[in-house]
Amino acid sequence: MEKLIVQGGKRLHGSVNISGSKNASLPILAAALLTDEPIRISRVPDVSDTNYMIQILSQLGASVERSSGTVRIESPDGISSMASYEQVRKMRASICLLGPMMARMHRCTLPLPGGCVIGDRPVDLHLRAIQSLGARVRVKGGNMIIEAPNGLVGTTIDMRGENGPTVLGTDNLMMAAVLAHGTTVIESAAREPEVVDLANFLIRMGARIEGAGSRTITIHGVERLHGCDHTVIPDRIEAGTFMVAAAMMGDKEKGVRLNRICREHMTVISDLLVECGHSVKYNDAGTSAVVKPATEPKGGKIVTAPYSGYPTDMQAQMTALFALTPGLSVVKDTIFPQRFMHCAELGRMGANIKVDSGTAVISGVEALSGAPVRASDLRASAALVLAALAAEGETEIRRLHHIDRGYELLDDKLLMLGADVRRAPDVNNCDCD
Ligand code: EPZ
Repeated sequence: MEKLIVQGGKRLHGSVNISGSKNASLPILAAALLTDEPIRISRVPDVSDTNYMIQILSQLGASVERSSGTVRIESPDGISSMASYEQVRKMRASICLLGPMMARMHRCTLPLPGGCVIGDRPVDLHLRAIQSLGARVRVKGGNMIIEAPNGLVGTTIDMRGENGPTVLGTDNLMMAAVLAHGTTVIESAAREPEVVDLANFLIRMGARIEGAGSRTITIHGVERLHGCDHTVIPDRIEAGTFMVAAAMMGDKEKGVRLNRICREHMTVISDLLVECGHSVKYNDAGTSAVVKPATEPKGGKIVTAPYSGYPTDMQAQMTALFALTPGLSVVKDTIFPQRFMHCAELGRMGANIKVDSGTAVISGVEALSGAPVRASDLRASAALVLAALAAEGETEIRRLHHIDRGYELLDDKLLMLGADVRRAPDVNNCDCD
């Protein structure tokens, strides 16, 4: 176990290169199973989640080589259709193996994913989708046993759940449909950039897909897919996290520059920062931006929504900023109403936050004070790091593995920007404390 020790109060300056998207990489890595030809994917971030996915692909029988950000995968005929409980339980997103395994082998055995601290993570929409294509689903011994002995047949499916579209559910259905007989139409499809990146990858492999990025995606099944090279889009949530860091602690004159970003994916995040008084200036190409703190920051209101609404993956980070912003701010998460584990920990640092049925009301305070806090999930941990950068004194953030799941070299990048952070072994940490 490791912890991060942060001495707060240091202004950030200089520039940071944003990594490739974790949430685009995971389904794209899984989609490599759709062909026996070599696949090469660049800018895959070196984080625990992508490494878990690579381990699972190897365990299934694919050959996987990673050199820095490039991953090369070959999935020969005869790969296994059974993913191990030990591997899959580490990462809920491994559910996105379902689509490619069913398309390639017409059967798969996947452990039922557990829930997690941001809420129960059902897979009913995934199972409904694959059943609509003709598969049978049984649950036995904690595993989902899914079979389509006659192959998969395209149809029209509305993928909307109670809380709106499903990102990985849309991904799974698209990956199952690319080799199905006939045409599949996905209604109420997720529109996230990561879904579009997956569609572009599949099209590069020879799939016939129209409408990715809209609410209706049409997939015409083909006989086979071939190998290709692909570069993953920038990670808009990592970029948003660094934008908030710059708004909280950036050099007041020069700000912080973010490189390797995509303005088109960032506007809802940067617009809110601008509404709250901070400065975000993109270059003409929209591939970099300079972010400076507001001289008179204002509170704001967030109601998370599916893309192109405000992302649920960014609400914890903004809550850290609102904790130090004069006045009242409100954060409502309509996608994961329980996703407020960070608020109690921010409270230990002096934040004034009241959480009630999926909504946090934040009353800004003059200053936060460093304290020992515990990370609970990926984005909550990021919020604690942001608060620690601005807090007075030292903050210890335990259970750093939550951050390492989705942020590549976060402490190194912050060090480069002038933060006083260091990683240390956490000999006293146990989940019981
Ligand atoms: C993806 O998760 C992201 N993960 C999440 O990011 C992100 O928070 C989420 O989309 C929402 O944008 C990856 O892409 C790997 P959903 P996903 O299916 O696809 C409900 C991070 O921090 N639902 O879009 O698993 C669900 O409970 C992670 O990087 C069902 O009801 O989320 C939620 O309320 C955390 N039944 C809503 O839909 C289902 O079968 C949206 O979830 C599936 C989902």
